[in-house]
Amino acid sequence: MTRHFLRDDDLTPAEQRAVLELGLALRDDRYLSLSKDGRRPLEGPRAVAFITDKPTLRTQVSFAAGIAELGGFPLVVDGNLARIGVRESIADTTRVLDRQVSAIAWRTFGQERIEEMAAVSRVPVINALTDDFHPCQILADLLTVAQHRGLDALPGTTFAYVGDAANNMANSYLLGGATAGLHVRVAGPEGFLPDGAMVARAREIAGETGGSVTVTTSAKEAVEGADVVATDTWVSMGDEAQAEERAKPFWDYQLNAELLASAAPDALVLHCLPAYRGKEITADVIDGPQSVVWDEAENRLHAQKALLAWLLEQG
Ligand code: NVA
Repeated sequence: MTRHFLRDDDLTPAEQRAVLELGLALRDDRYLSLSKDGRRPLEGPRAVAFITDKPTLRTQVSFAAGIAELGGFPLVVDGNLARIGVRESIADTTRVLDRQVSAIAWRTFGQERIEEMAAVSRVPVINALTDDFHPCQILADLLTVAQHRGLDALPGTTFAYVGDAANNMANSYLLGGATAGLHVRVAGPEGFLPDGAMVARAREIAGETGGSVTVTTSAKEAVEGADVVATDTWVSMGDEAQAEERAKPFWDYQLNAELLASAAPDALVLHCLPAYRGKEITADVIDGPQSVVWDEAENRLHAQKALLAWLLEQG
């Protein structure tokens, strides 16, 4: 059966660990053959489509570079030209694509769009960000923690996320973090907290992995003693019309030196980027000694290569 990666809990804890292990190996050797016969997974080259309906830099570049490094051909499709679901149905588009490419990574709006694609696709479909999840970013974030602390240190790590706790990053931290056995704490203002079903699912996973899930309106409570602290923009792609109303509620959740001081002294700072210095994070924090955001950005490449190789291997 074709495996897809549409949300963080599409990988079991053991599968997520296998992908992270592979990601660490690819960090050490970018051109690792990954197979006994010495071939790279996309040798041929086989094409992989990267389609984007939203702005992108890191995701497009890391997918394109990663596909090339796996021996394949990155086919970048501008969603504004393809107009999937408008010019042609999602199902018909997918039936055309899956006869030509070996995998599809799609950045789009509603999660239901990518689910519709995966329902008919005969090749792996990867969520390259939707309104609801950003699972490739969480793999890169976990890889970054593993890079600095070791893979075995992931279970039991206390991870705090502050800011817009109802966005795609928050959801993915909940599910992906729980899968890795993290103690995930998310903090945001009333009205910007994760929905109950998401929290319940994360708690269910945490029950299997030994992790835990805390949701709070207190940034201080979330960050207290944390090993890793993360934040994200207060205005996600698609939320631009609410920029004004989103300017006010988040100030108590700004990741600044004072808030970071309540985390563990050696806490790592993550931000998926793009970052808005002086808004969700201050310059002294993101550019400071505890920040590992550039490793995190690089790890998109290694994590997605590992994911692609792993998914293709399952098919
Ligand atoms: N929450 C952000 C993540 C950007 C990588 C957004 O969706 O715009």
